[in-house]
Amino acid sequence: MEWGMANRMAQLIQKDGRCVFMPIDHGYFQGPTHKLEQPDKTVEPLLPYADGLFVTRGVLRSCIAPTNAKPVILRVSGGTSVIGKDLANEGLTTGMEDAIRVNASAVGISVFVGSDYEKESLLNLAKLVDEGERYGIPVMAVTAVGKELSKRDSRYLALACRIAAELGARLVKTYWCPDGFEKVVNGCPVPVVMAGGPQVDTEMEVLEFVYDGLQKGSIGVNLGRNIWQNPNPVGMMQAIRGLVHDGLTAKQALDLFQSAREAGPGRAGA
Ligand code: 5RP
Repeated sequence: MEWGMANRMAQLIQKDGRCVFMPIDHGYFQGPTHKLEQPDKTVEPLLPYADGLFVTRGVLRSCIAPTNAKPVILRVSGGTSVIGKDLANEGLTTGMEDAIRVNASAVGISVFVGSDYEKESLLNLAKLVDEGERYGIPVMAVTAVGKELSKRDSRYLALACRIAAELGARLVKTYWCPDGFEKVVNGCPVPVVMAGGPQVDTEMEVLEFVYDGLQKGSIGVNLGRNIWQNPNPVGMMQAIRGLVHDGLTAKQALDLFQSAREAGPGRAGA
């Protein structure tokens, strides 16, 4: 791996081989998402705990201070919306030149395996990889399922992750699944990070799935709504970091979350 590529990967994946990415890119297809109406306010208390920020160039430029020292994974696919015909019909929205201009450590693109736009999204990934490799910028592929959340089983996810890696993604972001997640990770020759999906009912559910996914070989998370839609986002972020970087069990992470809650919002990160 060339120096620039290796350096960017090292900015994102920490010395312990793990990572906690914070995605705030949801607005690119669903508008002002709950608790992300003002991304700057959402991000400010959480950023100290994140190893990287997954964000579009628009929100980066308007809501994130350039003095921000956290590595940026720039979301570069889009062009569809939740009220449009098909979420899978994405294109590339940001060129590599702009990714370089904003000093991105990586770029991220969704692929929609099995959709009507499978081929287009995979060829977009391949094209982005060509560009990224030219400039030493890693590509993170996002195995997206659009509105069909039921697709998140291990057979489907393993297929999508493997294809993304075969096309040259340096990292793959996918969903955890209760059965066979190890097959997803083991079948993917590049590191796998887990997204969260819509907010679940209890903190323990999130902590348990993250713990399980880490045990099965994922290197970390790219977890948004289950952190910043929680009433105590800082506590949740600390708990997730505890799982990923400090080897906590789900129960220990819950204890950490609860002690952060007792400390009160805004003081938990102090
Ligand atoms: C949205 C994304 C998000 O980055 C991804 O889904 C992670 O966020 P969440 O944990 O909220 O699902 O790709 O397009």
